[in-house]
Amino acid sequence: MKVLVLNGPNLGRLGTREPDVYGRTTYADLVRLCEDTGRELGVEVEVRQTDFEGEMLGWLHRAADEAIPVVLNPAAWTHYSVAVRDACSQLTAPLVEVHISNVHKREEFRHHSYISAVAEGVIAGLGVQGYALAIRWLAEKLGPIEA
Ligand code: DQA
Repeated sequence: MKVLVLNGPNLGRLGTREPDVYGRTTYADLVRLCEDTGRELGVEVEVRQTDFEGEMLGWLHRAADEAIPVVLNPAAWTHYSVAVRDACSQLTAPLVEVHISNVHKREEFRHHSYISAVAEGVIAGLGVQGYALAIRWLAEKLGPIEA
């Protein structure tokens, strides 16, 4: 089994970006955490980040065509992108939406997600550990990789 971990805008700046909100873990640390979690579980994990919506849409279309499970932090797109939601709707394997911060404790415009209604589950507010939990859940749900 393969899991794609996709990150939206500004997440490449983790570690320096508003550390009081998102913590000091860098994006490189996040990639390592996801890859280490996958290794522990026998799951191939690929982590990507983009600030470009069209690039994200292409990755989601590919995941839909290849039935790859996705862990997605849509970042700001969560709150306004019907295009990202429509791409998520096409996914054929489970989707887990992850937010590092607890969006419900923050500004009102962050309370609504266009993605949650088409995700299997949502993890918010558990920091970068939310990604590891999402990968673990997918691994348990979908079983070990074929040889
Ligand atoms: C975020 C929360 C979003 O509201 C914000 O726009 C982000 C990151 C999070 O991981 O907590 O960029 O998705």
